[in-house]
Amino acid sequence: MGLAVEPTGASCGAFVTGIDLSEDLSADCIAEIRAHWVQHKVLAFPDQQLSDDDLERITLYFGEFGDDPFFGHIEGHEHIAAIQRNADEKTPIFAEIFHSDWSFMEVPPAGTMLYGITIPPHGGNTLFADQVAAYERLPDTLRDTADGLTAIHSAQRGYAPGGLYDESDQQSGRSMKIIASEKAFETCEHPFVRTHRESGEKALFSSAAYITGFADMPEEESTALVVEFYAHQSSEAVTYSHPWQKDMLVMWDNRSLLHSATGGYDGYDRLLHRTTIADTEF
Ligand code: SIN
Repeated sequence: MGLAVEPTGASCGAFVTGIDLSEDLSADCIAEIRAHWVQHKVLAFPDQQLSDDDLERITLYFGEFGDDPFFGHIEGHEHIAAIQRNADEKTPIFAEIFHSDWSFMEVPPAGTMLYGITIPPHGGNTLFADQVAAYERLPDTLRDTADGLTAIHSAQRGYAPGGLYDESDQQSGRSMKIIASEKAFETCEHPFVRTHRESGEKALFSSAAYITGFADMPEEESTALVVEFYAHQSSEAVTYSHPWQKDMLVMWDNRSLLHSATGGYDGYDRLLHRTTIADTEF
């Protein structure tokens, strides 16, 4: 049986069945999955019985392991992070803002994989926002503005001392291992509109989560613009709300998507294992 790919019906995303990811994949099969990934931007593979070794093997079909500058990793697997929240945890939901993973890096990761291990009975969907659609739907004048912008990225708000996930947050009972550091103050510039190397499509890249402003612009104007773009980037018309199941693998394309975690599962454990797929150039 070949791959069956069923689009979600939203702006992005598809479910893929007819494949057993616990087995080694052929080069043809990997190329086919890659094409669907680039087209749909996020793929979900339900009912996959995967070990951590499998998750690493599957990740390497699509690129090298990416760095996770502010995550701790699970024992014995230096490339797997646990996205975890315990039933009795009171900390703010991790990553509950639309973002593109680690966009503040010189070469941000091409993609991310997330595998469902413990999934609450309700809540905890991951939201995905199609940034090709967001770019195309911008009013003409705003799209022209976007085309000319250079965004300044930094991990400061989240991962610097004094940021959302700093040492005090860790000590307040967060189960997920996050390692805040001074490194988060560093900045990096990228064009706000990027052309996807594989699809040739233009997409808005990253968001207010990591974009601290636009280059060569007064701060007030720049901040207002970041906020104005965020509304378009996260509008319902471009988003897909993904419901999780245990044993489901999801892979998404950070070059053409934003994603956001959601809550709604207080009183239940949630655990997923995550790897990062490196890119070769911006
Ligand atoms: C993430 O941003 O990797 C976390 C997504 C989620 O927990 O739904």
